[in-house]
Amino acid sequence: MMTRNELITRLESPLGELSDDRELFAEAAAVRDRTIGRRVYLRGLIELSNRCRKNCLYCGIRSGMDGVGRYELTDEQVFAAVQRAWRAGYGSVVLQAGERVDEAFVGRVERLVRRIKRLSDGALGITLSLGEQAPQTYRRWFEAGAHRYLLRIEASSPELYRRIHPADHSYRERLHSLRVLREVGYQVGTGVMIGLPFQRVEDLADDLLFFKESDIDMCGMGPYIEAPGTPLAACSSLWTRAERLQLALRMIALLRLLMPDINIAATTALHALHPRGRELGVEAGANVLMPNLTPEEGRGEYRLYDDKPMEDTDLRGFDAVLENVWGDSPHFAARLRSSSSGSSADGSEK
Ligand code: 5AD
Ligand code: SF4
Repeated sequence: MMTRNELITRLESPLGELSDDRELFAEAAAVRDRTIGRRVYLRGLIELSNRCRKNCLYCGIRSGMDGVGRYELTDEQVFAAVQRAWRAGYGSVVLQAGERVDEAFVGRVERLVRRIKRLSDGALGITLSLGEQAPQTYRRWFEAGAHRYLLRIEASSPELYRRIHPADHSYRERLHSLRVLREVGYQVGTGVMIGLPFQRVEDLADDLLFFKESDIDMCGMGPYIEAPGTPLAACSSLWTRAERLQLALRMIALLRLLMPDINIAATTALHALHPRGRELGVEAGANVLMPNLTPEEGRGEYRLYDDKPMEDTDLRGFDAVLENVWGDSPHFAARLRSSSSGSSADGSEK
């Protein structure tokens, strides 16, 4: 196990040429190939809505942002996207949206999850990425059939978290949500942004140790990219965008070495900074890609990044797993076997 100092040393070595990190990336990819195989899991991402009650200082769809065309997919649009995913052979979809906690929203998600399950005879895996919710809500959605949940901690340092969020956004509540999700039985994914203003390499090393200590099942992290018009865009980062990309790839590789059997996503933010960003993520040890299946006509004008069509992603040499495999991380199966609580997800063996 790498120590904090070793992590810091590897993160702070000079940035510049990606090829200088070739050995680290190759080592991480080899660890992935040995533990989960030379395999990439594909999840279809469906962005239900960009309405959000939160006001995170870095986010282009924060509630305080004027001039953002807000959209919400209709049920028909959601099912059309799900059907496309299903026909294309995806084993799993991710439902993502800004955070809302009103009953209209909670109930709608619950119904959508049930109907997606029914539509696929229970075979389509469902991951949710819908922010902080009441324990009862997490339970309702789990019982409806969702089995994974993504909730990024964004920054594991409470101090840094405080600086990139408004005063009423609580680090403790976020941590608490992550704990509840686990208790309910979800496979839990979290992640951070890399290259934030006020962030230092020590914070990034601590993020990695946080993932390890939290015993997470999945991780999605990517470079921070200034969103025009947000408060944080006026603050400077220690790193250029190119450096953030390189740091993000180092983070993926180091996490793979620390946690060989978890699912690690190559995020769209990587691609936003490099035309081969997602492929580079996979070469550095990631094993999950989430092609965006949100219909254009529903999305309106607003997009955080310009998503590249999946067809452009070069996965030669990889076993791209679409076929009715949920792609649960082996880590999750091991966690269930070793836990005596018995609150197991029914998806664990699929
Ligand atoms: N740059 C990079 N990532 C961002 N996110 C939000 N805003 C930005 C940004 N400006 C990420 C957050 C959030 C995820 C959905 O998008 O980590 O959890
Ligand atoms: Fe909302 Fe998520 Fe953006 Fe925060 S990061 S404002 S919770 S969509």
